[in-house]
Amino acid sequence: MQDVETQKQYVEKVKQLNENKNRKYTILTMGCQLNENDSEKLCGMIEEMGYTRAENQKDADLVVFNTCCVRENAEDKLFGKLGELKKIKESKGTIIAIGGCMMQEKHITEKLKQSYPYVDIIFGTHTLYRFPEDLYKAIEEKKKIEDVLDIDGKIYEGLPIKRDSNVKANVTIMNGCNNFCSYCIVPYVRGRERSRQPREIIEEIMHLAENGYKEVTLLGQNVNSYLRVEKEKNIPYEQFEGINSFATLLKAVNNINGIERIRFVSPHPKDFTDDVIDAIASSDKVCKLIHLPLQSGNTKVLKEMNRKYTKEQYLHLVEKMKSKIPNLKLSTDIIVGFPGETEEEFEDTLDVVKKVNFEQVFMFIYSKRVGTPGYKMTNQVPEEIKHERFNRLKELVESQIEENNKKYVGTTQKVLVEGESKTNSKMLSGRTDSNKVVVFEADKNLIGKLIDVKIESEHKWYLKGVI
Ligand code: 5AD
Ligand code: SF4
Repeated sequence: MQDVETQKQYVEKVKQLNENKNRKYTILTMGCQLNENDSEKLCGMIEEMGYTRAENQKDADLVVFNTCCVRENAEDKLFGKLGELKKIKESKGTIIAIGGCMMQEKHITEKLKQSYPYVDIIFGTHTLYRFPEDLYKAIEEKKKIEDVLDIDGKIYEGLPIKRDSNVKANVTIMNGCNNFCSYCIVPYVRGRERSRQPREIIEEIMHLAENGYKEVTLLGQNVNSYLRVEKEKNIPYEQFEGINSFATLLKAVNNINGIERIRFVSPHPKDFTDDVIDAIASSDKVCKLIHLPLQSGNTKVLKEMNRKYTKEQYLHLVEKMKSKIPNLKLSTDIIVGFPGETEEEFEDTLDVVKKVNFEQVFMFIYSKRVGTPGYKMTNQVPEEIKHERFNRLKELVESQIEENNKKYVGTTQKVLVEGESKTNSKMLSGRTDSNKVVVFEADKNLIGKLIDVKIESEHKWYLKGVI
């Protein structure tokens, strides 16, 4: 692709500028796994340009932030960090580059330019592949760069990538979202849904398998509508290994030798068609922990959220999935305090949580996002009520997790060994099929292997076992 080739030339130019200078960089990533995957691509480009990772921000010649704007606290975090960086910038001339979802928001880039003029590069979600060019211009031409596109970017293939793990890998299968849930900023900052070509995905995963990777997570804002827009709008795509939907993609990935586990995030309940359920049931490598974002358990709130399913439809889907997929476990996302949510409506959420008994729940307090329909709703829930509901939900979820964890004690679990435990380097750490962290004592040569671990105790956020 011409655009990527041009960037390769800029990679070479920056590399020459950096020759024998021992240049260092740091990167801070906020938000979801899609952002983490974007950061891995940024790191790939940055390391090809001759930078190595700095242990400490103050030693860095280049500091990159890859931002998220899904919830408010991400903004506070960015502005806090920028304050800290000012001194480093003054003493060392560090190049500061800020990219990602938040940079697609006009009010944020305006604030940056006004209050943080020492930021060198602002880049958006659609221009990430152009980072080498932006960096070159910032260094060589000493320009302030603002490189943000409002239109949907193409999907760029063939960017270098520096992955965080050598056991499990994220593979983005689609970009953007067409759902416009009324609380969500993602469709505005990531643009319209567009899927990667089946061949590109399969070749990437085959390459990962050849390099010893054992687990892949397929990523997208709405993975189970993979290729849907292309089919609806007659946008040409190349059929490859019979892939023409998310279900057929899962089956094709399941056939790749060397890959032992497949995960995916996030699907949308409204698109959870029977062919996807059947593909999960019949594909032995697909983990039987499925993330199924609920958001609210009340039909009226779901309608206001533009989620396109009712409480009953969600529960019915869960029953159907449980009946077709043996040992199925579920995780979910829930927002409390959406505008207009009453006490009774919130209790419907608690009711669904009790009925489904999720393995894991990601809980969020509703946060107003500029530009979304939710922002203009006049019936916002007061902060203290939102917090009180959040705490009640948290209590319920934690008691369920404790109960569920107890069920693991005494069982033998297949664990994919990921590496040393972060808190104790004498121990190894890995995950079960259901994504529970397990720590145990073992030889490091087991890293990357799928082994049996007998669970001896549970500790809220992890399990302890012996091999
Ligand atoms: N406020 C709170 N939570 C949100 N999410 C998305 N937008 C908002 C918002 N405005 C949550 C949803 C989504 C997850 C990634 O973040 O639960 O599934
Ligand atoms: Fe946001 Fe809804 Fe799209 Fe998920 S499906 S990214 S919550 S708009």
